[in-house]
Amino acid sequence: MTPCILITGGAGYIGSHTAVTLMEAGHRVVIIDNLCNSSPRVLDRLRRLCGNSFEFVQADVRDGAALDAIFTQHPVNSVIHFAGLKAVGESMAQPLRYFDNNVGSTISLLQAMDRADVRRIVFSSSATVYGDPQQVPIPETAPLKATNPYGRTKLICEDMLRDLQCADPRWQVAILRYFNPVGAHPSGLIGEAPSGVPNNLMPYITQVAVGQRDYLSIFGNDYPTPDGTGVRDYIHVMDLARGHLAALDHLANEQQSITVNLGTGYGVSVKQLVDTFSRVAGRPIAHRHVARRSGDVAACYADTSLARTILGWQAEHDIARMCEDAWRWQSINPTGYAS
Ligand code: NAD
Ligand code: UFG
Repeated sequence: MTPCILITGGAGYIGSHTAVTLMEAGHRVVIIDNLCNSSPRVLDRLRRLCGNSFEFVQADVRDGAALDAIFTQHPVNSVIHFAGLKAVGESMAQPLRYFDNNVGSTISLLQAMDRADVRRIVFSSSATVYGDPQQVPIPETAPLKATNPYGRTKLICEDMLRDLQCADPRWQVAILRYFNPVGAHPSGLIGEAPSGVPNNLMPYITQVAVGQRDYLSIFGNDYPTPDGTGVRDYIHVMDLARGHLAALDHLANEQQSITVNLGTGYGVSVKQLVDTFSRVAGRPIAHRHVARRSGDVAACYADTSLARTILGWQAEHDIARMCEDAWRWQSINPTGYAS
């Protein structure tokens, strides 16, 4: 039987785009998702894009028996672990829920993989593990520090994976630290569909553009950045998806564990993103300047040299393309998957 890749959280934003990229590259895919932050309609969209070349299991990754059944029924040779909760503010209000879900699901998954003799894993980490960075661009060797429970769950999972590699060299682990994923598949069929009020900048901008929100609040205009607004490393979700393919290829070919930043290496300010979006979408984005958001850092962007050197990967899409694809998705699907 042709080997396949298990994607946890594959109905979510990054997981669904990665599933498409893997299937387009000829891989068979099994998705496990409990749909706690995604819509079953994603699956219809994936079928429209890729046919029936994937299986879907609705289950919680903390359910070891459900994982055992997947490993028994499918010839899984690697896993990409996206499943997790990701809202920083929510993690501060409900820390136990975050530790239970994010750390619990990772332990349950690693145990099931061990039982099934599958020890190749790509893990979704985040630039949040760098805390308030002392230098930009941020290299992978920068000090690690969590500033909220969500970030702590990522650091704990990273540490767990490092301990596992030390204990048993058969484990092949790629820890990928994403910067700020934005944009959507060029078809406009899948994209980012946050429930409720978006926490992140790009979905807020697209919802203002489509008339669902009155205006964007720009958090802070007195940062030590060129125009005073926060600077981030926005990366097109399709580039990010391709980074997972490169990481899997690296693990299969080199059998060596890695920790790599996935970003563009370029910092873009809130104001620059808003201006670019307005130009691309051909409409103004109403906005107001308000106070800084607590916990935000002034600037955060990646040193991407390691990804280029060891994965042979680099981001290709620029900010205009990110805005164009995000806008296509939002304008075709004004209310996300409910449209
Ligand atoms: P998302 O919420 O769109 O996708 C996560 C998916 O996991 C959802 O479909 C959800 O239903 C599912 N899920 C959550 N807990 C589960 C569980 N216990 N069992 C089964 N399914 C479960 O989020 P995303 O933006 O696609 O993020 C994917 C991963 O990347 C997350 O681990 C996130 O922390 C990480 N990450 C995201 C960003 C970002 O800005 N989007 C940045 C850095 C890292
Ligand atoms: N911003 C606004 N208005 C908004 C939302 C955001 O001005 O309505 C600003 C923020 O202040 C920041 C920038 O836009 O300067 C980006 O903010 P996001 O919330 O989109 O992204 P963050 O960099 O704050 O955080 C995101 C994820 C984190 C993750 C981090 C690094 O939400 O979980 O990227 O990967 F850890």
